Amino acid sequence: MKIKDVKLSSNVLLAPMAGFTDCGFRYLCSSFGCGLTTTEMVSAKGLLYMNDGTKSLLNYDKSEKPKAVQIFSNEPDVVAEVMRRGILKDFDLIDINMGCPMPKVVKEGMGSALLNDFKTASEVIKAVERNTKQPVTVKFRIGFDFKHIVATDFAKMCEDSGASAVCVHGRTKTQLYTGLADWNEIQKVKESVKIPVIGNGDVLSFAEAEEKMKNFGVDGVAIGRAALGRPWIFSKKYDNVAPKNVGEIIRKHFQILQNFFPEKLVLLHMRKHLACYVQKIPHAKQIRHKLVTSDNLQEVLEIIDKLFIN
Ligand SMILES: Cc1cc2nc3c(=O)[nH]c(=O)nc-3n(C[C@H](O)[C@H](O)[C@H](O)COP(=O)(O)O)c2cc1C
Repeated sequence: MKIKDVKLSSNVLLAPMAGFTDCGFRYLCSSFGCGLTTTEMVSAKGLLYMNDGTKSLLNYDKSEKPKAVQIFSNEPDVVAEVMRRGILKDFDLIDINMGCPMPKVVKEGMGSALLNDFKTASEVIKAVERNTKQPVTVKFRIGFDFKHIVATDFAKMCEDSGASAVCVHGRTKTQLYTGLADWNEIQKVKESVKIPVIGNGDVLSFAEAEEKMKNFGVDGVAIGRAALGRPWIFSKKYDNVAPKNVGEIIRKHFQILQNFFPEKLVLLHMRKHLACYVQKIPHAKQIRHKLVTSDNLQEVLEIIDKLFIN
């Protein structure tokens, strides 16, 4: 798939996940052949003030390619200024979040609130697009609720406003993560626009991503939760069987994060990733508990070596 002038090496992509798609995890996904990685959503306003917390979301390893940054905002002036300042110049694509269902985001008129406000959504896309040469993409849900399914019209608005691709999560805002993603609705989006359409929702394996592309005609598939603890999901080779060196892979995750953050912070942050990495290991309840509660990095690394002996 090509998004404007950015060629992707694979059509199976990583979906952005706040708190999870850190630079270490994205590096791993990328190294296993993921076609495009995306940061977690970053507040455009936060970028203008550039506090340390916001800045840290923009970290990346130089071998992570191609990579997108996802921003959220409902203020065209703010996103225009972010783009003019060149803060995001290192990223290959700019993705705009118009699907986040979190109350604190929606209440402010951002994320999935924009599904009910085409005018502002369009102005935000135009403001980004007019102030950058990077391709602009939009990620959204199929509608705010079942009474307001707007996916095809919203996608057309994105295209008309200058978006070079859209990523559609086949759920409504009110569904949050319940029920099932509606791939028929995603297919309708594909049939209604000319720009590439990436489908998203409930895909559990590389093979399933290929099936979705075949059955629903989408250009690409973004995988979110199923990639957690399994960054190798982007490699066809490891679709059904994990690589032999999972311990080394986890160590690499730590290593990349340690290039940017102090040890204590890395350990704390890695706990949720570790819980995902060890989820499928049977009969190791106590040791798994130790792994996600220890505040000693050396001890954690030794447990990992023990759990994942090649
Ligand atoms: C913990 C978590 C954090 C997420 N954060 C973001 C985010 O920052 N931006 C975004 O567009 N979507 C976010 N999502 C939604 C995912 O990108 C994706 O649309 C959703 O999980 C459905 O795909 P899946 O079934 O493959 O997980 C998040 C999902 C989860 C579970």
